[in-house]
Amino acid sequence: MMIRARAARKKPRPEDGGGGGGGGGGVPRREDARFQGVRVYLVERKMGRSRRSFLTQLARSKGFVVEDVLSDEVTHVVSEDCQASSLWTWLRGHDVKNLPTMHLLGISWFTDSMREGKPVAVETRHLIEDTLPKLAESTSPAPVLTVSQYACKRRTTTTNNNKIFTDAFEVLAERYEFNEIHGRCLAFRRASSLLKSLPRAVRCLGDTGGLPCLGEHCKAVMEEILQCGRSFEVEKILSDERYQTLKLFTSVFGVGPKTAEKWYRGGLRSFSDVLAAPGIHLNRMQQSGFLHYGDISRAVSKAEARALGNIIDEAVHAITPDGILALTGGFRRGKEFGHDVDFIVTTREPGKEESLITNIIERFKQQGLLLYCEHNASTFHKLEFPSHQFEAMDHFAKCFLILRLEGSQVEGGLHGAEGDDRGWRAVRVDLVSPPMDRYAFALLGWTGSRQFERDLRRFARAERRMLLDNHTLYDKTKKEFLAATTERDIFAHLGLEYIEPWQRNA
Ligand code: CTP
Ligand code: MN
Ligand code: MN
Repeated sequence: MMIRARAARKKPRPEDGGGGGGGGGGVPRREDARFQGVRVYLVERKMGRSRRSFLTQLARSKGFVVEDVLSDEVTHVVSEDCQASSLWTWLRGHDVKNLPTMHLLGISWFTDSMREGKPVAVETRHLIEDTLPKLAESTSPAPVLTVSQYACKRRTTTTNNNKIFTDAFEVLAERYEFNEIHGRCLAFRRASSLLKSLPRAVRCLGDTGGLPCLGEHCKAVMEEILQCGRSFEVEKILSDERYQTLKLFTSVFGVGPKTAEKWYRGGLRSFSDVLAAPGIHLNRMQQSGFLHYGDISRAVSKAEARALGNIIDEAVHAITPDGILALTGGFRRGKEFGHDVDFIVTTREPGKEESLITNIIERFKQQGLLLYCEHNASTFHKLEFPSHQFEAMDHFAKCFLILRLEGSQVEGGLHGAEGDDRGWRAVRVDLVSPPMDRYAFALLGWTGSRQFERDLRRFARAERRMLLDNHTLYDKTKKEFLAATTERDIFAHLGLEYIEPWQRNA
């Protein structure tokens, strides 16, 4: 309630002075309204008085007729109460004969109309019956679909029905990340992850009733987007020079928020500033980052990932007949594009996995495929307890590579290379090499998404008194390590329903 009242007062009117129906900003008299055929009535239930009056003013300023009372004049009833049954009960309590001919609409019809500046045609998706399956509350005693606060208990495919909100949340999370306000950053990442898991688009704030992970700030942003089609806070961030610069700098391979901030504080604003600055020393990773910027900032396609899989597979099997290769990361989750391609390479022969990575690197070097390589030798020791940090790096042997990929090896050619006759591109590839008895943990950990992994660990600790990381699972109650040969084993130890890789896009 508080937030609505505040939003109503504070919110700048989106189209002020921008040529909406209201001309010079004044509300036209009722008989001068542009759209006489449409008589809107806003239901106060769920909406609240202040929001209703705000929306009424907004609509009138755009030339709509908004009725204060429900009468037979009304043609369009707009409500934020998404439960058709209770709304009908309420409406029938009013003495109106025309009820059957009125449109009974969710707030989406209203916001669409505000955006268009005219009453939009009524579509099925606007109708009040057409709302989310009851996500949390229900009038029936039957068990309802509840949404867990843990991403590892939700099934999230690559279909995101709430992109307009999650894109905004991502910007907000990133702003907080740049400002090192980690709690808020995480809150927006969680909220974004939750919305990605929903089977339908959120059409009105009422749809979010009972959902976890959506705090006041999140809801205020969503409300703005629902009303105006955009968030002013997000637009302000996007036009902020510091945000833009940090975003640009961190898009370079090897440049994290700390370095980006240092450069920004030093007055640098562009790549040419950085490259020309006398006091700047770029490490090897950053040098490669700049050198291959055009290529590695371009998304990697599924076909390109497959081609790299073939190249690595060939290498692994040339080195050892016992070799094992598995695709992980975003592509294992079914994504069409990624920022890199992630693989697990290992061998059944215990102890041989260490040298496998170095042999692969050596082979790529000889083949002229290696454009950059950072190799981390294994620091893995068998008896180590799982990390308490949710995002700690694992200890397996691994390497972060930039490889040269020939277009001729990619089915359908290189992605986005039209008009480029170079015939090859640079691609980021990560390889990790766990010993075979840790394969399942590494596979689960590297498949992601980051948010899914984070919540697996949080769930294990908070709900099961267990510690999970990319190496192992430890039961603090029984004081023992729990072995696993497949991902299913790990889900079973945790007492979780198995979630397929393509359902982990949290
Ligand atoms: N990961 C990890 N340790 C690292 C690097 C990555 O455990 N040193 C894990 C991350 O937690 C993530 C997965 O590996 O879950 C893949 O990481 P990344 O490639 O960064 O993300 P993707 O989900 O593959 O996304 P994209 O498609 O953009 O590459
Ligand atoms: Mn990846
Ligand atoms: Mn990666």
